[in-house]
Amino acid sequence: MSSGISRRQSLQMGALGGAGIVVGGIGLSQTGPPWTTRRAGDRGGSVSNLVQPELLRSEKGVLRTELVVSRTEVELAGVTAQMLTYNGSVPGPTWHVRPGDRLEVRLINNLDEATNLHTHGLAVSPEGNGDNPFLSVGPGESFDYLFELPEDHPAGVFWYHPHLHGAVADQIFGGLYGTILVEDRDEVPVSRDRVLVISDTTLTDDGGVAPASQGQIMMGREGELLLVNGQSQPQLAARPGERERWRVVNACTSRYLRLAVPEQDPQLLGVDAGHERSPRQVEDVLLAPGNRVDLLMTMQAGTSELVTLGYDRGGAMMGMMGNRDLSGPATLATVVVEGDAVTSLGQIAERLPDPDLRDREPDNRRQITMTMGMGGMGGGMTFGFDDRRFDGERIDQSVTAGTVEEWLIQNPTTMDHPFHLHVWPMQVIEDGGTRVEEPTWRDVINIPAGGWVRVLVDFARHPGRSVYHCHILDHEDAGMMGVVASGT
Ligand code: C2O
Ligand code: CU
Ligand code: CU
Repeated sequence: MSSGISRRQSLQMGALGGAGIVVGGIGLSQTGPPWTTRRAGDRGGSVSNLVQPELLRSEKGVLRTELVVSRTEVELAGVTAQMLTYNGSVPGPTWHVRPGDRLEVRLINNLDEATNLHTHGLAVSPEGNGDNPFLSVGPGESFDYLFELPEDHPAGVFWYHPHLHGAVADQIFGGLYGTILVEDRDEVPVSRDRVLVISDTTLTDDGGVAPASQGQIMMGREGELLLVNGQSQPQLAARPGERERWRVVNACTSRYLRLAVPEQDPQLLGVDAGHERSPRQVEDVLLAPGNRVDLLMTMQAGTSELVTLGYDRGGAMMGMMGNRDLSGPATLATVVVEGDAVTSLGQIAERLPDPDLRDREPDNRRQITMTMGMGGMGGGMTFGFDDRRFDGERIDQSVTAGTVEEWLIQNPTTMDHPFHLHVWPMQVIEDGGTRVEEPTWRDVINIPAGGWVRVLVDFARHPGRSVYHCHILDHEDAGMMGVVASGT
């Protein structure tokens, strides 16, 4: 394989190979005290410790909860902001469930606009009151959702957010997202478990959420304020030798994150619903919007930063729009490891390998092409798949329930687009000409500008109608979404 492709592929698959990481004290003096790196939007002098969202656990196989959506005044990065919130906070609560559980959610919409709910990445029914993106819950209404996880549902980090076509980017940029953890039996022994929901938004001077311009919508808006659990550059404190597990969600509407902790020693446990058999050392991890990563951190003494290194996600039509500032490098949090060292925890057991759909011949093959063109209203861009914009009444891909299909997803445009499919699991088998050897399961797959990816899609379960779309949510709202129906 050529080195260009293999680098692209390793980024795509979530990690770079792990040689050459400098650990220990080297470089600490260059990092400086955390308060020197504080940015606009973070008023006041004190560093805040990372706060965890409220954790709700299933009991006896059921998690029953209410999710109240409202416009709320919250303290965000040291300022008072008018955000859209789930249960009054940004992010919303973390739901902790196990395979086989029932997740019952009463969505109560106290907004003056419609919304709905999507459980991103869960393999559950898309029908009725399940993970149904075609539902709309009007202002003042409530709706009882039911998500039934199969007994063999993969463990992993998932998330929930609104999915009302046309309003998704605005509502997520406004603050509506939360984490879902699906945990199986062999838990990894750790000193501390953290959820890190990374999001971005832009606040106006009076503390409202800034609207996006046409140009920002075309490129996919990125917020000026980068947040971790609703905090700007919080601090994570630990003692040397402690083992932490970080479940990171990229809840940004359009921003790509290339996560690294240069003076630490991150190990990859998994991305989306895919797992490493044993923890694998990585230098950085690319998370397209919507992706999640499960990281193991064995803390080294010293002060370091969780950063995004920056990623070039391309530009619209021959550099017509500047893209230099998009998904650029930034500091997300400070990691302070000090105090008495703790004795290390036990070995982590090797996992069983993830399933591999290549054991059988695909029942069908199809191609799906991401398209952008001129000629939208007011001279803007049009976004779609196969030169059609989203129409919820049309079925774009009609598949037979119980089959496995091979999809070639192509991106002939000048910018990257993250491809996301609801409900049905995708195994990446080829990326721009490079075979992917290990079973690699993703629900958001970045398709680079001019590139393509081949996947196998498992339609064994959950017949019904759902969607695939670009997870740059401005593009999804603009029409880069299609309908897939699995039936007999
Ligand atoms: Cu995270 Cu269809 O969405
Ligand atoms: Cu989704
Ligand atoms: Cu896109």
